[in-house]
Amino acid sequence: RRVLVLNGPNLGRLGRRQPEIYGTTTHDELAERCVAWGAELGLDVEVRQTNHEGVLLDWLNDAADEAVPVVLNAAAWTHYSYAVFDACAQLTAPLVEVHLSDPTQRPEVFRHTSVVTPHAVAVVAGKGVDGYRDALEVVAARLG
Ligand code: DQA
Repeated sequence: RRVLVLNGPNLGRLGRRQPEIYGTTTHDELAERCVAWGAELGLDVEVRQTNHEGVLLDWLNDAADEAVPVVLNAAAWTHYSYAVFDACAQLTAPLVEVHLSDPTQRPEVFRHTSVVTPHAVAVVAGKGVDGYRDALEVVAARLG
């Protein structure tokens, strides 16, 4: 079964971006691991990253049309994009929210709200790259 892992803005610089917060694994490595973890779980995982909000909205709209499960790290859009909120609301297959850090434990108050959480079957945060594996496990369990 096909599953999309969608990563939002600035996550393309993973490994080089504030490694003390986000770790040293690159986005390419993250993508490779997600595909391998997915295969172990019987999931056909495709990983994408964009810095452009409209592109993410198009991907989420397609996922809604095709009832594809989504693991979503909307990065900063998580905290303020009502367009992402509305796009997530349309999904019918399981949506799992993932973050490398735990935004709720970080000092910036803007990180403490999520527009994704109301639509997610689970939130995995603060586990770094391994959190994506947990998120894929949640998807696999939901799909039975
Ligand atoms: C993030 C947390 C967000 O607050 C931040 O804007 C990001 C990454 C994470 O994975 O920890 O870009 O989603």
